[in-house]
Amino acid sequence: MTASFPRLRVSGVTKTYPGYRRAPPLHVLDGVDLQVASGQFVSLIGPSGCGKSTLLNIVSGLEEASCGTVELDGDPSARRLGVVAYMHQRDLLLPWRDVLGNAVLGLEIKGVASAEARAKARGLVSRFGLAGFEGTYPVNLSGGMRQRVALLRAMLGDQKLILLDEPFGALDAITRGSLQEWLGGVLVEDRRSALLVTHDVDEALLLSDRIYVMSARPGRTVLTVDIEAERPRSQGTLVTPRFVELKRGLLAALAQQVRGIA
Ligand SMILES: Nc1ncnc2c1ncn2[C@@H]1O[C@H](COP(=O)(O)OP(=O)(O)O)[C@@H](O)[C@H]1O
Ligand SMILES: [Mg+2]
Repeated sequence: MTASFPRLRVSGVTKTYPGYRRAPPLHVLDGVDLQVASGQFVSLIGPSGCGKSTLLNIVSGLEEASCGTVELDGDPSARRLGVVAYMHQRDLLLPWRDVLGNAVLGLEIKGVASAEARAKARGLVSRFGLAGFEGTYPVNLSGGMRQRVALLRAMLGDQKLILLDEPFGALDAITRGSLQEWLGGVLVEDRRSALLVTHDVDEALLLSDRIYVMSARPGRTVLTVDIEAERPRSQGTLVTPRFVELKRGLLAALAQQVRGIA
């Protein structure tokens, strides 16, 4: 496909879950439009329950949209499952597999030979700050390390588009800050495209070329903010006047959405 297509284009994506038993159907997404260009980092922020994880499930190919289209490189019928990397909201590590065993899971499912998959993972452990922990089990890892194993697993497949659902949500502020900076650097180096779901405005500002604000459920994209500043950025960028002003605007837009559901 030619480079004139965005890597990902979501157009008019709507999702309604059927009602179970006596519950009425749940209208979760209402015509979401967004784009991620090649090499771009895009964040999606919105109130909890507005359908962000549902949208990533649809983009990853795990769920079907009720209507609307999802195009990869301009192709609305492109296979997405396994082609797009996806790091879930929970780290989903298997407790009976060590760090290396968890990291290679995606490759193994794809049919890559175990020795080859492990060699590939071994080559990346130090970049992900996991050197020396290859044989450690999840129960003995810190929260930040578990997140890095989940990220390593998501990124090991070399997919050009990576979906990240609140990857740092459960971490303390210091660990979160250093992991965010680290991820920003890795993605720029690899020239990968990313779509990140977060409710952390600072995280979105630190990492993104573009931020979409979603409405309360049923979710749709209500505001698009382009951030024309070099990436990767450091935490220090966030306290510059320009970023403080951007943050003020985003918080106001989010507050409006939250008031909408209060
Ligand atoms: N498989 C499902 N069946 C029915 N309702 C669902 C299903 N998955 C999610 N939902 C509902 O859709 C809404 C949006 O969920 P979600 O996408 O997880 O929101 P967010 O990630 O923005 O917090 C929630 O009310 C949730 O209960
Ligand atoms: Mg979610």
